Amino acid sequence: MADTTSHLFQPLTVRGLEIPNRIVVAPMCQYSAAEGVAQDWHFQHYGSLAASGPGMVVVEATAVAPEGRITPGDIGLYSDAGVAAFSRLVRTLKAIGKSRIAVQIGHAGRKGSAQRPWQGGGALRAEDGGWETISASAVPFAAGWPVPHEIGPYDIDRLRHAFAAAAERADRAGVDIVEVHSAHGYLLHQFLSPLSNRRTDVYGGSLENRMRFPLAVIRSVRRALPNDKPLGIRISATDWVEGGFTPEEAITYLAVCKSEGVDYVCVSSGGLVADAKIPSTPGYQVELAARIRRETGMLTRAVGLITEPEQAEAVVASGQADMVALGRAFLDDPRWAWRAAVALGAPIPYPPQYERVQPELWPGGKTRQSVAAAE
Ligand SMILES: Cc1cc2nc3c(=O)[nH]c(=O)nc-3n(C[C@H](O)[C@H](O)[C@H](O)COP(=O)(O)O)c2cc1C
Repeated sequence: MADTTSHLFQPLTVRGLEIPNRIVVAPMCQYSAAEGVAQDWHFQHYGSLAASGPGMVVVEATAVAPEGRITPGDIGLYSDAGVAAFSRLVRTLKAIGKSRIAVQIGHAGRKGSAQRPWQGGGALRAEDGGWETISASAVPFAAGWPVPHEIGPYDIDRLRHAFAAAAERADRAGVDIVEVHSAHGYLLHQFLSPLSNRRTDVYGGSLENRMRFPLAVIRSVRRALPNDKPLGIRISATDWVEGGFTPEEAITYLAVCKSEGVDYVCVSSGGLVADAKIPSTPGYQVELAARIRRETGMLTRAVGLITEPEQAEAVVASGQADMVALGRAFLDDPRWAWRAAVALGAPIPYPPQYERVQPELWPGGKTRQSVAAAE
């Protein structure tokens, strides 16, 4: 029990690993790697977030194969240089504070070979460095996007091994937790959704068939990790489109994931098609997380427009989710965990190097704590 009544600041144990609090930095692509290799940007970005004391920092979508990158700027765990830089990044983050370090491993499928968002975010042309993409079926992401190659038996096997190899490399690099990216319209989601999976073989059609490849990946990743290493998954619990993947299907999928050794789920939504109508209001995915938690009994993480400490506290305190992940709120305020600690009356998770910010060590300093106390 932490020294506070705040639910957000209670530790959580996942497969024997203690996570110091329930605040998670959501995975956020930085599109700033070179040939899959993390650069200086990543060290300052993740370093500053780890210094702010969240329970978990999830390193962005990290490709298991070169063609699985979303953009040319994605990190990858498929080359020696990529693995070396990633290992150094994990070592750096673990030396900074107590945050548990996770990595999200994934494959972009038909959403790969894209421009960085600030270059337009559309499909990259071959002359600009684009590459051929693959997917469950030869159905493009949106108008103007290339038609992906339908994955054959060779690729099914290759990709299963690529996911397992990436998980093993991440483990050797020292990450505490591995998360499989099964959300946002990337490859595993492309198999799950009937809108992108039109296959007529054992990998398409019924939900059982559409789950077959993602579950094969999950099993391979679980086997590649030591027994005591937590494994998470991120899913899009709905496509927000008629005829798409549904919360009921997500629950069936997650129940099998759980029985295969997945320890928690991060509940997101959308991303499969470009024109879905997503109701982006505060906490708009929390109800989906709560339902999944109720119906699967899995440890659950809520995400999406959670920005206020009291809002995050309420999600955990009410049992809607076991953790909350924040993305943009952490970009806006990398010390969000300190802000939450002040608001919720929990001890601020300072790294020792920053302890002199405390009011008793900085009399007269206008700190978050002293300003809050004076109000
Ligand atoms: C810059 C940026 C990059 C993102 N990259 C990823 C990613 O790599 N993997 C992922 O699953 N979601 C990614 N997301 C989605 C976030 O993890 C999160 O689910 C989303 O931003 C909603 O949470 P928020 O309202 O707290 O930002 C990204 C979001 C942003 C803003």
